[in-house]
Amino acid sequence: MCGIVGYIGRRKAAPIVIEGLKKLEYRGYDSFGIATQGKKIGICKHEGKISENSGSALNLKGTTGIGHTRWATHGVPNDVNAHPHTDCTNRIAVVHNGIIENYAELKRQLISKGHTFRSETDTEVIAHLIEEQYKGDLLSAVSDAVPYLKGSFAILAISSEENRIVAVRYASPLVLGIGDNELFAASDMTPVLEHTERAVFLEDGDIADLSREKVTIYHGKEVVERPMELIDWSIEDTKKGGFPHYMLKEIYEQPQAFYNSVRACTKETLPAIIGKPSSVTLVACGSSYNAGLIFKYLLEESCGIPARLEYASEFKYFPPPVSGLVIGITQSGETADTISALKQAKTHNCRTLAITNVLGSSVSRISDATVYMRAGPEISVAATKSFTAQLAVLMQLINCLCEDRAGDFLLHGHRAIEEVLLKDLTAAVALCRKAASIFYVGRGPFYPVSLEGALKMKEISYIHAEGYAAGELKHGPFALLTPETPVVAICMPDDTYGVMISNIKEMMARGAPVIVLGPEGDKELIDIADIFIPLPKSHKFLQVLTSLVVLQLLAYHTAVALGRDVDKPRNLAKSVTVE
Ligand code: G6P
Repeated sequence: MCGIVGYIGRRKAAPIVIEGLKKLEYRGYDSFGIATQGKKIGICKHEGKISENSGSALNLKGTTGIGHTRWATHGVPNDVNAHPHTDCTNRIAVVHNGIIENYAELKRQLISKGHTFRSETDTEVIAHLIEEQYKGDLLSAVSDAVPYLKGSFAILAISSEENRIVAVRYASPLVLGIGDNELFAASDMTPVLEHTERAVFLEDGDIADLSREKVTIYHGKEVVERPMELIDWSIEDTKKGGFPHYMLKEIYEQPQAFYNSVRACTKETLPAIIGKPSSVTLVACGSSYNAGLIFKYLLEESCGIPARLEYASEFKYFPPPVSGLVIGITQSGETADTISALKQAKTHNCRTLAITNVLGSSVSRISDATVYMRAGPEISVAATKSFTAQLAVLMQLINCLCEDRAGDFLLHGHRAIEEVLLKDLTAAVALCRKAASIFYVGRGPFYPVSLEGALKMKEISYIHAEGYAAGELKHGPFALLTPETPVVAICMPDDTYGVMISNIKEMMARGAPVIVLGPEGDKELIDIADIFIPLPKSHKFLQVLTSLVVLQLLAYHTAVALGRDVDKPRNLAKSVTVE
């Protein structure tokens, strides 16, 4: 949710900041801007995506610069509301990720002192607050301004009078990249990887003073040391590598992501705080919630440990009675709701475990322990390989808690995923692209697979799509079934096979065309389905994976057929750092 990048060194800052922002566009892409330091601050900012619009910004001179790609919260996306924002005199420029909750009150006070505001944003108050405090030393001015701010913020500030960047982190992510005689600051390491793999993650409340030669980090009045960490993500992971979209590349990276994540999560590496829980509570949002629901079904079925899953956004305000182990699932590690829910769980004396993909992310800082999945950087907004990597970790967790119930199957899960990557979905895509609405149905763990399939479809194709537990469709949604509302049904050989076939026939009797995902060679399903997509016969855990990957591909190819901007769907952002 908004991405920020800063550079200070000997090279021209603008191209480095712009290239960095392009890598952060998954965090927001409605407008962008950069500012460079010099006798005058140079600024260039525009509505629209930086990847399509960055030409004039490249001309900005200077070897120190800050930039921002925006996901609007306060004020519509336009040139004026785009960051950076400046003070009255244009001597100070800031970029900000997060929300200033008390901005309205601060704005009133600053206006009464004579400040002139230009934008509708909350961020502009930061520039004017720093201006109020500024007496020739940007570090002191920022340090004096920060205590007035309430909310969440990662801020980079520059001044025309000093060659430095002052960076602040409070409840929004910020990492420093340590190069040779050059320093970077960014929302995450993806923009920095091509320059350095050395990272320093700031803690909440840290203020960093960046010059060409060194960085000094302050916490309160104290100078503090933060450890340097080496990031093992490769630069190639952040490039499209010949694929037309990041999403397709990331779908194809799933065998590797699954393989790596399964092997990284074993009995030996799982944190001791998990223990032998008598029940588990999970909190998550979006796709991570769907992964949690798959886990709930598989855990309860495999080893009888009850699991409760809550939307993180509800948990904070309506906390249920909770004790024991609470697991927060979040690929970005920055989702504000999931972080709040885990904090809430801690006030109930629960043990908290985070499952995330991002080293040093906020969730790992507030949880008692963290398990990292190994998906590598995911750039496309729609979660794909991070989702399968979450499942790898969650399935291994079940394996560890339930005495190897999935046996060696997980070690070969990557092969099952490989098998379905090249499925021919032409007929299904032709049906879906004309649909007014699509229903997805399944039972047991295939119900959350349906939820995820529908979520992918609506996110990137903009076709209305809903996932349902198959038995529920007749309790209302049947009224919507027509030849223009296809149903995608996942029907695998378990105790629900017979009843699923009855459900499919009921839907067809109401005129809806049905696409069935089922075990290869299943004559009955081949006969009844309008379109049959065969899946390899295997362990249930792997059937979950293969059906899911097919639904990702169905959404992807449908969105491409409709000409959508697959990697940057409208209105969305990958990392949602506001409640
Ligand atoms: C956003 C993204 C989704 C993601 C959700 C939760 O809405 O667009 O793809 O599933 O946030 O993100 P998290 O990082 O917590 O898994």
